[in-house]
Amino acid sequence: MRAGSRISNIQLRYNHGGITYEVSPVQWNVIVNDFTCKLVASDTELQGAFEVRRLVFVQEQGVTEALEYDGLDDEALHVIARDEDIVVGTARVRFPTRNQAKIERMAVLEPFRRKGIASAILSFVKQELRNRGIEHAVLHAQTTVTGLYKLHGFQETGSPFREDGIEHIEMWMDL
Ligand SMILES: CC(C)(COP(=O)(O)OP(=O)(O)OC[C@H]1O[C@@H](n2cnc3c(N)ncnc32)[C@H](O)[C@@H]1OP(=O)(O)O)[C@@H](O)C(=O)NCCC(=O)NCCS
Repeated sequence: MRAGSRISNIQLRYNHGGITYEVSPVQWNVIVNDFTCKLVASDTELQGAFEVRRLVFVQEQGVTEALEYDGLDDEALHVIARDEDIVVGTARVRFPTRNQAKIERMAVLEPFRRKGIASAILSFVKQELRNRGIEHAVLHAQTTVTGLYKLHGFQETGSPFREDGIEHIEMWMDL
């Protein structure tokens, strides 16, 4: 199993929750210190984003592939965090109305968590949306990670609900 879209010189196996990640220690350090966030611009990058979502949502969290790949990816912007040749985090953005963005499918590979990668993706997404003149952003946060979004200015609204078998709550912010 591979941690991301492409990786060479794999040397280190990392097991979490029954999933084995294979990561070169050199890559690990480079990624954590030198990753960049960008819009997906090629099919290879999109496949890298899909692979992160498969590992995180399907394998780790038990979401079915049918729910994860819901047919809405073609209408979305996709953002990735990557170094030269490995995708470690992703999110997608859809536009339910002309003035509102919905951020979905935020995921970071487990070995790379708590190092600011999701936070960097969110900062990138917010700037991208501002550049496009979008004024409002919403998302359905897993209730265990609302702190991440609060750090970025999102506020909870309404009551928790279940989506794909996982407890969520809606959050929003004015950009
Ligand atoms: C949620 C997720 C995307 C966060 O990615 P990450 O790269 O680890 O997040 P960051 O390192 O940028 O976190 C920034 C801050 O957000 C908060 N945060 C992040 N993950 C958190 C968690 N699991 N629990 C509580 N707070 C969390 C912390 O305040 C963190 O700062 P700290 O590490 O200095 O305490 C990642 O854990 C993940 O992919 N989880 C599985 C899928 C998922 O739940 N996606 C979210 C769907 S709404």
